[in-house]
Amino acid sequence: MLTPEGASYSRSQCKVLGLFMLLLMLGLTVMSWFLLAFMSGGCDGNACTHEDQIVPDVPESPLLSIFVSVASYRDPECKDTMQDIFSKAKHPERVFVGSVQQLATDIEEACWRPGLKWGQQIRSITVPFSEARGPTNARHLAATLYRNEDYFFQIDSHTTFRQDWDEHAIAMLDRCPSAKCFLSHYPPATGDPGLQVPVLCMSHFDEGAQMPSFEARNFDLQVGEFMESPFVGAGFQLSSADVLLEVPFDPKLDMLFVGEEILYSARLWTKGWDMYAPDMNLVWHHYNRSEHPNVFRDRTEEWWHPQQGANARARFLLGMNETAPPGETPSSLAFYGMGTARNLTDYWRYAQIDPWERVADSQQKFCHKHVRRRAALPGPQPAAGATDAAGQNATARKLLQPLLHRPSP
Ligand SMILES: *[C@@H]1O[C@H](CO)[C@@H](O)[C@H](O)[C@H]1NC(C)=O
Ligand SMILES: *[C@@H]1O[C@H](CO)[C@@H](O)[C@H](O)[C@H]1NC(C)=O
Ligand SMILES: *[C@@H]1O[C@H](CO)[C@@H](O)[C@H](O)[C@H]1NC(C)=O
Ligand SMILES: *[C@@H]1O[C@H](CO)[C@@H](O)[C@H](O)[C@H]1NC(C)=O
Repeated sequence: MLTPEGASYSRSQCKVLGLFMLLLMLGLTVMSWFLLAFMSGGCDGNACTHEDQIVPDVPESPLLSIFVSVASYRDPECKDTMQDIFSKAKHPERVFVGSVQQLATDIEEACWRPGLKWGQQIRSITVPFSEARGPTNARHLAATLYRNEDYFFQIDSHTTFRQDWDEHAIAMLDRCPSAKCFLSHYPPATGDPGLQVPVLCMSHFDEGAQMPSFEARNFDLQVGEFMESPFVGAGFQLSSADVLLEVPFDPKLDMLFVGEEILYSARLWTKGWDMYAPDMNLVWHHYNRSEHPNVFRDRTEEWWHPQQGANARARFLLGMNETAPPGETPSSLAFYGMGTARNLTDYWRYAQIDPWERVADSQQKFCHKHVRRRAALPGPQPAAGATDAAGQNATARKLLQPLLHRPSP
């Protein structure tokens, strides 16, 4: 038998110790019965006010929690984003951030000031910018900081938030017309009044990257009106955190740029997730950061080769290249590949893209305001139902936690 200090005891010493502990516990139990009987003396059941002071009220049902993934690269706006995440949340206590900050550690400011009010709820990985492996890899790293929260929310590090965004986010997922709802778009630009919602509905074939690519168009949407979108953008992803287990971020896509989003879109859809644009804007994004550093400008000599590798990997996973990346087989890649709920051929047909003929024309089908609403549910209210589901799966996620933290090779 081992004690916490690591000393070992013989078998007979153990027996004596065990008997002693048993007697001690029995004694304590009997004592506490007497104590309780004494303290609650005279009260009968519900009407007992005295006991209320000893036994606290059943706490209100705990708040569902949100994990916010924020990857940043030498971004001076990152700390304002961190501040905004917490100061605009209605319940900052339910918000947990996974921050991957890639910066010149000696001269550049970190993503939050020490002493930030909710700083305890920020988990972080700091990477010297000279070792950064591109945005797709940084988002994979940020996802490794997930610790069993109920919802997943990925944003960019130069983002501003709507007041009470956390309440709106959860309510939006509750009213989404699918049980496996994944909300994404390119958020409106900082300064835009945000009266219309950008929806990712247009596509074209990017000849440079040899990849389908897509764009947003703005729509007037009422709360509860969801537009289907065959694509997801990296700067706004909101869903149940189950997605992190079902569609884990691929650690081997160094320096990937065009291709990250179409690959994740196809993986989500084939795993049975339904992608929609949000029905209202929750965040604003600072586009036009041409004067800011980025990994491709800083590492001009170094990004091209890994990017070619990542492109080939993405093209293989998307069925556009028959040669598996060196050292990989279809089964070694299954974890990061397509799902079995729907097949890849059907995804391309759904998105109106023919990657082999380099034709992409999604707008005919998706840039129309055909909205879907959640049907009224019999029985429990949608919010309550969703809460139960999230609770049940929180347990499942806890059991599967180690899967999420596979070391990145
Ligand atoms: C970005 O800036 C350029 C010029 O600085 C301007 O022409 C363009 O409209 C801006 N784009 C956005 C989305 O603000
Ligand atoms: C296909 O994949 C192989 C192996 O990764 C790579 O060498 C080749 O360049 C890829 N071809 C295209 C067209 O992506
Ligand atoms: C994909 O699924 C459809 C049914 O939705 C089926 O008709 C088709 O044969 C499948 N394609 C492949 C390549 O498995
Ligand atoms: C929990 O997640 C599993 C997949 O991970 C899914 O099949 C199941 O429907 C989810 N349960 C609820 C109640 O949402």
